[in-house]
Amino acid sequence: MNTMNIGVVGGGLMGHGIGYLLAMAGHDIRIYEPSSEIRASIPQRVKEIADLLEDDPAHLTRISVHGQLASAVTSADVVFEAAPERLPLKQQIFAELESLTKPTTILASNSSALPSTEIGRHLQHRDRVVGTHFWNPPHLVPLVEVIQTEWTSGDVVARTMALLRDAGRSPVHVRRDIPGFIGNRLQHALKREAIAMLADGVADAETIDTVIKDGFGARLAVLGTLEQSDLVGLDLTLDIHETLLQHLDRSTEPHPLLREKVAQGKIGMRAGEGFRTWTPEQAAAVRERLSRHLAAQAKTRSKAARSRQ
Ligand SMILES: NC(=O)c1ccc[n+]([C@@H]2O[C@H](COP(=O)([O-])OP(=O)(O)OC[C@H]3O[C@@H](n4cnc5c(N)ncnc54)[C@H](O)[C@@H]3O)[C@@H](O)[C@H]2O)c1
Repeated sequence: MNTMNIGVVGGGLMGHGIGYLLAMAGHDIRIYEPSSEIRASIPQRVKEIADLLEDDPAHLTRISVHGQLASAVTSADVVFEAAPERLPLKQQIFAELESLTKPTTILASNSSALPSTEIGRHLQHRDRVVGTHFWNPPHLVPLVEVIQTEWTSGDVVARTMALLRDAGRSPVHVRRDIPGFIGNRLQHALKREAIAMLADGVADAETIDTVIKDGFGARLAVLGTLEQSDLVGLDLTLDIHETLLQHLDRSTEPHPLLREKVAQGKIGMRAGEGFRTWTPEQAAAVRERLSRHLAAQAKTRSKAARSRQ
């Protein structure tokens, strides 16, 4: 793929990682970040990713950081927006992007929950607005959900998927802009059941997580849920559903236990207590374990990609 000019709007947690992975794929990246403090931190933060992944830091010279939106996006072929999750803000950013970019520039939002349909609703050229839902951290988790709104053209979806695939990501086409897309619907269906079992006293939080990590979670990275159904047989899946589904949690509101924890300030590792209690050392160990695990997977993937070239 030819070198592209890519604008990234917002240089926070997601924006710097998105900029990083696209720079490593050979593109010229211009990150717009309004906070001077965060702007100043970006070179060090992308250097830390290169160190973690043992990538050549020479590629980082392709990333520049800007305090003005226009200088980051005017010549862009594609813009990835990773600004705070507020609809009026994103709508305003997209209106500015429309006036600053050429009509063919792809405008992609990394929103986790706001529909790109709404973000781009008031634009003149809505066919170039697409959702690109990266997962955190975007330079380590390969999936990107590419969400087609009712107006996004097939060509924009295809070009976005090609760009991401070429950058070593695993893009998937989500054909309708539904709440939670695919990944968060699946993740929160599981979370709803886990919280309900915890509240019912079936087991403690650590035990429920052990069932996930040491049970079906151990195979999830190589065997999807529908694939697994085909593997064991749909007849077995049907038999299980006939008896089990009636017992699963079907609430359409957050569980009272979750509301209670949040009201008490027990919001998790940051507070020292959530569903479990955490010392700062235990919380740091979880973060370290996750980062090492994801980095090892990312290195294996890039080694495999290099050997295919
Ligand atoms: N954090 C996650 O796990 C995650 C995962 C997937 C998607 N997302 C989505 O990505 C987006 C960014 O999230 P994040 O976690 O990187 O947040 P963040 O707060 O770390 O970064 C947002 C950045 O945008 C900057 N910003 C503020 N106002 C701006 C403006 N007007 N224009 C441009 N930039 C502005 C902020 O200074 C900040 O650096 C959100 O839509 C979020 O929902 C986050």
